[in-house]
Amino acid sequence: MLPDRRALLGGLGGLAIGGAVAGLTGSLARAGTGSGAAETRRFTRFSQQGGDFSWTPRKLDPDECAPVAYDGFWHNLNACGYGAFYSIVGMMAEKYGAPYDQFPFSMLAVNEGGIIGWGTICGALYGAAAAFALFWNREECSPMVNELFRWYESAQLPVYDPGSAARAFVGPLPANAPGSVLCHVSVSKWCHGFNKKADSNELGERCARLTVDVSRKAIEILNAKIAQGKAYKGAFSVQAAVVQCAACHAAGKESDIQKSKMDCAPCHSGNPHLGDKFRKHP
Ligand code: HEC
Ligand code: HEC
Repeated sequence: MLPDRRALLGGLGGLAIGGAVAGLTGSLARAGTGSGAAETRRFTRFSQQGGDFSWTPRKLDPDECAPVAYDGFWHNLNACGYGAFYSIVGMMAEKYGAPYDQFPFSMLAVNEGGIIGWGTICGALYGAAAAFALFWNREECSPMVNELFRWYESAQLPVYDPGSAARAFVGPLPANAPGSVLCHVSVSKWCHGFNKKADSNELGERCARLTVDVSRKAIEILNAKIAQGKAYKGAFSVQAAVVQCAACHAAGKESDIQKSKMDCAPCHSGNPHLGDKFRKHP
């Protein structure tokens, strides 16, 4: 049942109608980033069998999971999100059976190309974040996701080399820092930087190997989280640009008009690649 207007107003202490609704929207938006006051109202219909977050997270061996992430990428061409997620939750299923083996893993195939080619979030990152979120709520996932995503922005990728087991391209591949968690930026920068086509075997191979790198990092984070529990913090500090820009562009600051923890620099630094391409462009 939807909360009625009276209940909303009651919950907000009888503020004026317009202000109350705007206030609620604001508090929910902030709850989405884990900061600010969250709306704690509960509804009976959303109760979950076993309760929320009832599955037990299990430690995994990143070396054992690495080739599984790689093969998962190629299985039915299910790609990055599937490979990363299966290498975590699928491996728990292979080792421990239920409830992990109940998961419909093929759901993750939608993450290919940043959600069916849309180039939004790198699917491997989504697969890993979704695996964390099977076990921990947003507040606890937050430092885990921050750690993984900040590492991804700055790490030289890909690292993994399957050797003769390579599926699309055998041999070493060049590496760069994706700079962004977005598939579009990550793929396009790599292709432009190393003169590869986005529809090439090399790019496919690069993304399969990068899926392994993400899986390894995610499993390191998962194992550390299991060991440290609520004390888990992560090691990467907030990106310099985010610290600088969030001094004003963040909740409660002078210009609270943007939402992101992505590194701001690639898009807002006057980068020549981001100038106007609609005029005087080949
Ligand atoms: C000292 C405070 C402050 C800092 C630090 C700051 N901004 Fe702003 N920024 C503003 C204000 C104020 C506006 C005007 C928008 C508004 O009305 O809220 C603005 C507007 C903008 C706009 C929209 C207008 C435009 O010029 O295109 C962008 C984009 C922007 N800032 C990006 C950034 C980025 C990226 C950083 C970090 C490099 C940053 N800002 C750091 C205060 C700041
Ligand atoms: C992947 C590229 C990308 C990244 C990363 C990014 N932005 Fe933006 N940002 C944009 C685009 C595109 C817009 C919309 C610009 C427009 O109005 O057409 C925008 C809009 C904004 C605006 C609203 C003003 C405006 O020009 O419309 C602010 C403020 C802003 N960004 C700040 C930031 C800050 C701070 C960060 C880092 C925390 C950040 N952005 C990261 C691409 C990016």
